[in-house]
Amino acid sequence: MKNKDSNIKKAIKYLNNNECIAIPTETVYGLAANAYSKKAVSKIYKLKKRPKNNPLIVHYYGINQLKKDCEIDNTFKKFYKKFCPGPISFVLKLKRSSRISKLVTNNSTTIAVRFPSHQLTRKLLKNINYPLAAPSANISKSISPVSKQDVLDEFNYKIKFILDGGASKVGLESTIVNLIGKPYILRLGGIDSRLINKLIDKLKNRKKKKLKVKVPGTSKLHYSPGIPMRLNVKKNKLKEAFILIKERKEFNSNYFYLTKTNNLKEAAKNLYKTLRKIKKDGYKQIAVERIPNINIGEAINDRLLRASNK
Ligand code: TXA
Ligand code: MG
Repeated sequence: MKNKDSNIKKAIKYLNNNECIAIPTETVYGLAANAYSKKAVSKIYKLKKRPKNNPLIVHYYGINQLKKDCEIDNTFKKFYKKFCPGPISFVLKLKRSSRISKLVTNNSTTIAVRFPSHQLTRKLLKNINYPLAAPSANISKSISPVSKQDVLDEFNYKIKFILDGGASKVGLESTIVNLIGKPYILRLGGIDSRLINKLIDKLKNRKKKKLKVKVPGTSKLHYSPGIPMRLNVKKNKLKEAFILIKERKEFNSNYFYLTKTNNLKEAAKNLYKTLRKIKKDGYKQIAVERIPNINIGEAINDRLLRASNK
């Protein structure tokens, strides 16, 4: 624990100096910088090679810190109480008085925010007096990192510091919910969409208009391993890596199990790690067994579909 505390201190030192560093979250690792500092945030875009019109998610310790920057209402409070801290992000209205750098939001009057549950990052957020803008810590369009080693694979030593928090428990990015107007899901992710829709129905705010919000980062080609991928496959071709979720009797060195027991949470956790491994092993083609479109399987299929887009 001592060791971890000194690492948090180091992380804070870099952040206070307007540097960007990698932080662990329960979803994926983030590339974090002071969201109030234009200088710090511009380093994120540069390092990630991210287009400036794709806004960042801002990470807070809790609702009290958030209030300085965002308009909140009862709907938000209900979501916050039920799901936070956890793998969910919200699109809210930015306050006029907010100090969030315009670079974070691409000059928009809306902002995406989140409250990560990873203990190290919570401790970090508690000990700084600014929120952290943090997209996933990968080069734009490639696979999100779920460990310190993955971040190193993406950036080598171009990144000043990586706060090592072990493997990300969820393994897929947060679910994004738009809370401007009638709530709806913008991006599937770490929380089962049925739980979110259940709360939306309970809130009975059907009279509110559904105000469409754009999510630039959900363009079709995204989360890509850079190798052709076939989905819903029963049998792999020769030399093709085969991603599976149920154990098969025969041994085949091209089989890659996300889980052997159809456990979709385990499959989600192992997805990005497995895609990276397959790429590193030099495969030129990937096949994936059918994944049930329920619970977090929905988010897995969403990412696979994007990854398979040519
Ligand atoms: O789990 C996660 O959400 C991870 C960890 C690091 O927190 N972060 C993450 O960030 O996935 P990123 O930048 O890779 O994806 C953020 C997505 C992008 O698709 C972006 O377009 C969208 O959020 N976004 C950001 N601000 C938005 C806004 N104001 N309105 C709509 N979409 C927004
Ligand atoms: Mg990303």
